[in-house]
Amino acid sequence: MTALTALPAWQSMLAHAGRLRDMDMRAAFASDADRAERFSAEDCGILLDYSKNRLDDAALAAVFELARATKVEARRDAMLSGAHINSTEDRAVLHTALRAPRTASIKVDGVDVVPEVHAVLDRMCAFAGRVRSGEWRGYDGRAITDVVNIGIGGSDLGPYMACEALQDYAAPNLRMHFVSTVDGWQLTTTLAKLDPATTLFIVASKTFTTQETLTNATAAREWLLAKAPDASAVAKHFVAVSTNAEAVARFGIDLANMFGFWNWVGGRYSLWSAIGLPILIYLGEDNFRALLAGAHAMDQHFARTPLERNLPVIMALLGVWYINGMGARTHLVSPYNQPLHRLPAYLQQLDMESNGKSVRLDGSHVDYHTGAVIWGEPGINGQHAYYQLLHQGTELIPIDFIAAVDNPKSSLKHQRILLANFLAQTEALMRGKRPNEVRDELSAQGLAGEALEALLPHKVFEGNRPTNTLLLDRLDPTIFGALIALYEHKVFVQGTIWGVNSYDQWGVELGKQLARTIESELTSIQPITTHDASTNRLLERARKALVARSNS
Ligand code: F6P
Repeated sequence: MTALTALPAWQSMLAHAGRLRDMDMRAAFASDADRAERFSAEDCGILLDYSKNRLDDAALAAVFELARATKVEARRDAMLSGAHINSTEDRAVLHTALRAPRTASIKVDGVDVVPEVHAVLDRMCAFAGRVRSGEWRGYDGRAITDVVNIGIGGSDLGPYMACEALQDYAAPNLRMHFVSTVDGWQLTTTLAKLDPATTLFIVASKTFTTQETLTNATAAREWLLAKAPDASAVAKHFVAVSTNAEAVARFGIDLANMFGFWNWVGGRYSLWSAIGLPILIYLGEDNFRALLAGAHAMDQHFARTPLERNLPVIMALLGVWYINGMGARTHLVSPYNQPLHRLPAYLQQLDMESNGKSVRLDGSHVDYHTGAVIWGEPGINGQHAYYQLLHQGTELIPIDFIAAVDNPKSSLKHQRILLANFLAQTEALMRGKRPNEVRDELSAQGLAGEALEALLPHKVFEGNRPTNTLLLDRLDPTIFGALIALYEHKVFVQGTIWGVNSYDQWGVELGKQLARTIESELTSIQPITTHDASTNRLLERARKALVARSNS
């Protein structure tokens, strides 16, 4: 038994979870007029209603006790003060410093990082302003019309998601493109639509060693130079965002065109840093600063609000409750605003790369489940696809329903229908439909006897399916910033409870190493015998296809 599972608070959570596994949420609402109000919390333009969960006051008290017993507050304070809580890499974890106001002071190893953060931010704003106004010119003197962000993982998902989410606030004269994959199809089809003289590339890579990104950036540079009169065009069309100035210089990007950040910013927590440059160019300085301010407001909420009303803490505890108490293995994110369509993909990296761990900080193996599989799509599409399984399948899948109440670009009629569906789903998942209700309904339709009894079980909904509702006042930069910071802190709290390091990602390394070996084997002519039989055969097949293509 690890220290965590031996905790009385852990045992108490498990006991309550056993007691409430088959809880009747309908009855709980019927007998408690204040349930919705009591099990709701609100700040930063976000209302979290978590009343449609298998919970009561005693169970909630037990999970908050678990947060206290695992010292969530002390570790939070350590993180916010710049302590090296990323122990396997001996680094601070300070994405919160990226959105701290100019007047703040946050020290990493004795050095106040806030002035550096704002110095880079000011440079980014000045550069973005020049691109947006048309003052920044391409090699033939024309203004930039298209910006291509070349990056992957945290150097793609956050900026892409934010540009999509906040597109209503964007500059009308700029088009954004995101190239992440080393399937060259993506770069080729993107470039086919563009004019090199009016295209700006942002090469975004924290390490500047990522193979996919460097391969795409090299190809993009070749594409530019094939049209540009000379190599001086690179300085007008390429900027880099990285922590690795040496590698940026080696690649051939002038360091005057580089925007830096720091090793205390994790890739999946970096959209607030220079990695956010595409967001800043697309949305403009005021909107980008509003995004940072919204995230900062959530940081303040997280740092100062008692656990019982603390939005990220509540969401994290609910996750632990279902994963560890009730055996949930996945968690669905269901945004109803279409511009949030990249949110689930972004949260997959944020959550799964952070808490997809099975070793504790002290190196011991966990004896409990950690991060769930995060998945999702815009909810209204999900309704016509996989919601069947949510309503009547055998899996327990907790869900975050997210929608903005105010949605000016959607007609009143559309918005009414959208919100009606949004609200109906959480109610249906909670209430279900009982056999007696199905019987009455079928009888009213004229069905009776054997025919009715045969159909009845197919039309029963068990209900009691857990959901959180996150109601945003509107989808603007400030509230969106707060929403993302909310999820960041949720992930932090869960990682703290599970005792894992949420800020490293060693698990991505093995595949990268093997890919390097296999890539060289794909160009060799030696028979391939060094792998398992399956990989050897597949490799031979792939090699044949590559050889055939190079001979054609
Ligand atoms: O391979 C995973 C990863 O290291 C992520 O953590 C990171 O966001 C992504 O690759 C991209 O890394 P970089 O920004 O250094 O290119």
